[in-house]
Amino acid sequence: MNYQHGFHAGNHGDVLKHVVLVELLHLLTAKPAALAYLDSHAGAGRYSLDSEQAGRTGEWQAGIGRLPGFAPGAPAAAGDDHEPDAVPEVVARYLALVQASSKGAHGRTYPGSPALAAALLREQDRLRLCELQPAIAKVLERGLAARDRRIQVFQADGYQHALKALLPPPERRGLILVDPPYESRDEFARSVAALATALTRFATGVYVLWYPIKQASGVAPLLRDLARLPAKSSLTLELWPRACDSPLRMNGSGVAILNPPWGFADGIDHWLPWLADRLADGRGAGCQWRWLKRED
Ligand SMILES: C[S@@+](CC[C@H](N)C(=O)[O-])C[C@H]1O[C@@H](n2cnc3c(N)ncnc32)[C@H](O)[C@@H]1O
Repeated sequence: MNYQHGFHAGNHGDVLKHVVLVELLHLLTAKPAALAYLDSHAGAGRYSLDSEQAGRTGEWQAGIGRLPGFAPGAPAAAGDDHEPDAVPEVVARYLALVQASSKGAHGRTYPGSPALAAALLREQDRLRLCELQPAIAKVLERGLAARDRRIQVFQADGYQHALKALLPPPERRGLILVDPPYESRDEFARSVAALATALTRFATGVYVLWYPIKQASGVAPLLRDLARLPAKSSLTLELWPRACDSPLRMNGSGVAILNPPWGFADGIDHWLPWLADRLADGRGAGCQWRWLKRED
């Protein structure tokens, strides 16, 4: 296993995943009670967009590079419902954090999920981050955890650790991000099995699973299995910049959320199509969201 997220940081999949993550944490931190954030596949935490890796794929240019105000220092436009083209508030919150992550850095940087969570969480909250590759776990430790007492890094298998050993969190409120590299064929099945175990240990957790889409038919079994999990409710958001008709490349991606907090679904109809329009890359682009399971 030698997956390097530096090749993909800031691409359309990251944009969707991270907008959702920021909105969920925004809602969950509205209550003063402490919150646990667990990241089963944390990555390096921060990525240079001027690196050789990023330059080789150029994926970020079709992702975060398409969004307004991304140039370091330029303010992200705040949401304004009366102007159809204004940046929706949910997206503006994410953009502000991306811009802030480049401040004081050499060149352009893009924040990974641990850095976004660290920026949003409060003194009373805790971050527990799992990363399997020792070299990447070290970068995470040095770059993020060393100067932040709220953060613990585990060089460990996220399925066994974040989704099992670390549950339930002592805080009894938590968001768990599951963001595997999908290098092996059984990653969909492993994610669903791990989520099933996690729900038996921490039924009220908010779980977020990111998944790639090559062809729509390829994710149908995953969505069917997710809908059968014993979460109270679950929904999925998908965004594809081009037609999902080739098994050879990632054409889009989705985020499934188990036990979404109250209010999360409000506004998706506005911000998701706005984002899909900006990220569209030709014929067949689109987006959709739907409940997989609704609380009675
Ligand atoms: C898609 S990247 C994570 C990106 C990160 N969540 C973000 O949004 O910024 C997946 C990461 O999972 C790590 N990884 C792969 N298998 C793992 C496992 N079983 N447990 C924990 N980490 C794993 C890889 O080394 C890689 O850094």
